[in-house]
Amino acid sequence: MKKHVVLYKTLSAPLMARLEAVAQVTVVENPKSQDGLAHLRDALPEAEGLLGASLTLDADLLSLAPRLQVVSSVSVGVDNYPIDELTRRGILLTNTPDVLTETTADTGFALIMATARRVVELADWVRDGQWKQNIGPAHFGTDVHGKTLGIIGMGRIGEALAQRGHFGFGMRVIYHSHSQKPAVDARFGAEYRNLDALLQEADFVCLTLPLTAQTQGLIGAEQFARMRPETIFINIARGKVVDEQAMIEALRSGQIRAAGLDVFTQEPLPADSPLLTFDNVVATPHMGSATHETREAMAACAVDNLISALNGQRPKDLVNPETWPRG
Ligand code: DGY
Repeated sequence: MKKHVVLYKTLSAPLMARLEAVAQVTVVENPKSQDGLAHLRDALPEAEGLLGASLTLDADLLSLAPRLQVVSSVSVGVDNYPIDELTRRGILLTNTPDVLTETTADTGFALIMATARRVVELADWVRDGQWKQNIGPAHFGTDVHGKTLGIIGMGRIGEALAQRGHFGFGMRVIYHSHSQKPAVDARFGAEYRNLDALLQEADFVCLTLPLTAQTQGLIGAEQFARMRPETIFINIARGKVVDEQAMIEALRSGQIRAAGLDVFTQEPLPADSPLLTFDNVVATPHMGSATHETREAMAACAVDNLISALNGQRPKDLVNPETWPRG
């Protein structure tokens, strides 16, 4: 008999066909809306597999799913799942690393370029019809090439950013991570720093680390105070790694030069967020992995992980290996 899967993300027709070949699929649209959530709650009691993204699967929702065997997330980040509780119940959690690494690093570099060279601000200025004579120093940006790229979190995405900085822009790479990585040092001429030293030294401070209990609020007022008026702050990790109010103060006081932000404490970012009042902030809508190719690759990876798990095989991207082999 086919297993029951609750799908709360739109899949392409080929992926949907692949999933439906092995599972009985209940599609829940927009699970964050009131109706969608009610539908999800109705579907959970039968669910043996879940597939989707961006939903906070809290203890209440999980308690409605006694038959659940696997949660397949279409994301690399898994901060929205109660991992300990899933593990305690023997429920497999899978994610989609690797396939989004390069695209997310591209987004990081887009924010580096946009903030340093004031691309969005000046493009808006041209669009407003304000370009009436050659621009002068008031509109100049700052160089990216040859500067010091500081990466906090040297995982796959951190490495892909280092590659772009080192080989593409001749940047000096420094990084902070839970451990020093000799292979990274050798490949990019990178140098390990403790957090304070990195914050003081980097021209670009880039966050690429996961949100966990240890990293929540890692960058607050004390950390912004260590940065310099030339520092550009880039966050492609998770909003909650940063104390957003402290970042707003750092921008307001000129403690940092600019910020390129793809992630926020509250998403979608409220239209009245003070962050949107700064010309030197480039805010994008959590689009790190958002290209047609990469989102399809992520969904394919999630479908494969789900199918493996439902077939009793170890999925490739198992986040909680303690659940394997099945008891
Ligand atoms: C990820 O894959 O974690 C992206 O940030 C989307 O949530």
